[in-house]
Amino acid sequence: MKKHNFYAGPSILPQYTIKNTAEAVLNFAGTGLSLLEISHRSKEFQAVMDEAQALFKEILDIPSGYEVVFVGGGASLQFCMVPFNLLNKKAAYLKTGVWAKKAQKEATAFGEVIEVASSEDKTYCYIPKGFEAKVPTDVDYFHITTNNTIYGTELHKDPDVKVPLVADMSSDIFSRQIDVSKYSIIYGGAQKNLAPAGLTFAIVKVDALGKVERHIPTMLDYRTHIDNGSMFNTPPVTAVYGALQTLKWLKAEGGVKEMERRKVEKADMLYSEIERNKLFKPTVLDPADRSYMNICWIMNDEYKELEKEFMDFATAQGMIGIKGHRSVGGFRASTYNALPKESVEALVACMKEFEAKH
Ligand SMILES: Cc1ncc(COP(=O)(O)O)c(C=O)c1O
Repeated sequence: MKKHNFYAGPSILPQYTIKNTAEAVLNFAGTGLSLLEISHRSKEFQAVMDEAQALFKEILDIPSGYEVVFVGGGASLQFCMVPFNLLNKKAAYLKTGVWAKKAQKEATAFGEVIEVASSEDKTYCYIPKGFEAKVPTDVDYFHITTNNTIYGTELHKDPDVKVPLVADMSSDIFSRQIDVSKYSIIYGGAQKNLAPAGLTFAIVKVDALGKVERHIPTMLDYRTHIDNGSMFNTPPVTAVYGALQTLKWLKAEGGVKEMERRKVEKADMLYSEIERNKLFKPTVLDPADRSYMNICWIMNDEYKELEKEFMDFATAQGMIGIKGHRSVGGFRASTYNALPKESVEALVACMKEFEAKH
């Protein structure tokens, strides 16, 4: 039976990425060696790193003055690298989920942290309105999480603020066109829309660095990774290779513009069914706040007792990874770039069939 992969991350990758990575595991770039045993200093891998960084810049239309770095440690390490490198006195944070909250907490070790707005009062099921006007003008930066993976909310446009912006884009990078020039740093774990787990990306405005007085440990200093082309220490070789395959696929498929068209199409299809189906309701009520990448829903009150039965029914039909995060409950379908429209159609058909049974 066909499996439909709705995992939130690590998550579905293009077949192109999986197939090429599998081939390279057996024979990497005609070397007769496996990707798993190749030196990161080999000329063949250096070519992979260079091409991946160049394509990353090209696809996101990253202006000059910015560098892309590939490191380890996950988005979670970026929560502390950002304030280490940028926070002198004060930073502002928008608290739209647990990841945003964790990022905010890390910053408190480096200076004063202003919480501009929060949606914690309602389990982060909305994006606070009018937050842009509340950002103080004297902060070193303002930090946002553009897509809240657990709760299914998303900021669909780059905010207009007068201070440097920093964004965690772990779960929506490459899913829409962004105006990189508005940001000082964009970072994320690559394990959702880009690569197998193990790789973290950061797009860094070079001018924004070097403005803090404190000593920055070598590995946590963005300049170390920029100056050494992300090769100061051993990069996650296999994940970088996977990222390059996804970037090639993305370009061939029409880039982020096409990804954006597809994500809206897939999300609209699923939200319409959640709204229409008498058994279910969405957890994010304002359509403007709804994520196009992680779509969350629960049973309608009068059908609560059917939750487990629907989960079993959907699993039996090949729907994988649709259990909602434990803090929200219900269901979550992640519709990342690599997820085909057919998988969403199959999920919608499964929801309709379950409704007909009841
Ligand atoms: C928006 C967001 N930020 C940060 C993280 C944490 O990422 P990592 O596990 O790479 O540290 C996640 C993980 O799912 C996430 O969705």
